[in-house]
Amino acid sequence: MTYDSHRPTSNIAKGKVILLGEHAVVYGHPALAGAIDRGVCTKIAERTQPEGSTSRLRVSEWKIDVGADSQHPVSLAFAAMLKAADLQYADVELRSDLPAAAGLGSSAALCVAIARSVAPDASHQTIATIANAGEACFHENPSGIDVALSMSGQIAEYRKESGLSPLDCPPLPLVVALSGIPRSTAKMVNLVRERIAKDTCASAAIEDIADLSAEGRDALLKSDWELLGSLMNQCQDKLGHLGVSIPTLERMIRIARKSGASGAKLTGAGGGGSIIALAPGREQKVMRALQEAGFESFITQVGQSELRD
Ligand code: MEV
Repeated sequence: MTYDSHRPTSNIAKGKVILLGEHAVVYGHPALAGAIDRGVCTKIAERTQPEGSTSRLRVSEWKIDVGADSQHPVSLAFAAMLKAADLQYADVELRSDLPAAAGLGSSAALCVAIARSVAPDASHQTIATIANAGEACFHENPSGIDVALSMSGQIAEYRKESGLSPLDCPPLPLVVALSGIPRSTAKMVNLVRERIAKDTCASAAIEDIADLSAEGRDALLKSDWELLGSLMNQCQDKLGHLGVSIPTLERMIRIARKSGASGAKLTGAGGGGSIIALAPGREQKVMRALQEAGFESFITQVGQSELRD
């Protein structure tokens, strides 16, 4: 998708990938993540209510066309954001080139784009508050990482307590491949919570994932791709122990590693969604192998401030 050249970059709500640390981040541990060069932006944002009109939200690429008065999850999130913005009416049309429900932060990007559309002059903090009011309707108790990254567009370490600490590193090329299996972040977060309550191995896996994120931060800052790849592979094992990996994701990861990735793992909540592969200089080969196996795949520049052409 080509975005309008006059559109300010600040009005792009980006998708994201988690390099290391999903699920552990819910428990206050650090996660290493970055925004990708795909996202959601405003096409139309009208806040003056024409006689007889009611609020409406449209995203044609995601087949979304809802009011703020139904029980549809997107409608509930839209209504929550209008309330948080203290607005009676908004007619918002968004555009997106981000796959939906694929573990790439589409709901956060949707919420940030809506927040920026309904409150164009609001502060960074107010946009985050409005967006999080919507995100909470999708994910019950999100760590906040997706909204923070969608707004910042950077590569960063994120902690629930302190938010984003951007990392000074160049954009990172990654292969993203979609399993095509939809999943619910809330369901996967609840599954992990239940496992931790019952099984000490699951709590140990969370601690291990936290350690891997901390090591990954240094690897990223030193551009040590072999180490970062190895940490991603170890993180995938731990996510498997938590029960959030599935055979299709594991097959995709095997294909990515066999075709040259030094690291490959699921990204986001798991249970479906997407994988990421780190394959410096071999991205095309890895992407083609995944595509030949039938998985929609693309190469993204993580942490790049501009969107693709
Ligand atoms: C977020 O994309 C993935 C999880 O870590 C949930 C969260 O951080 O809210 C699983």
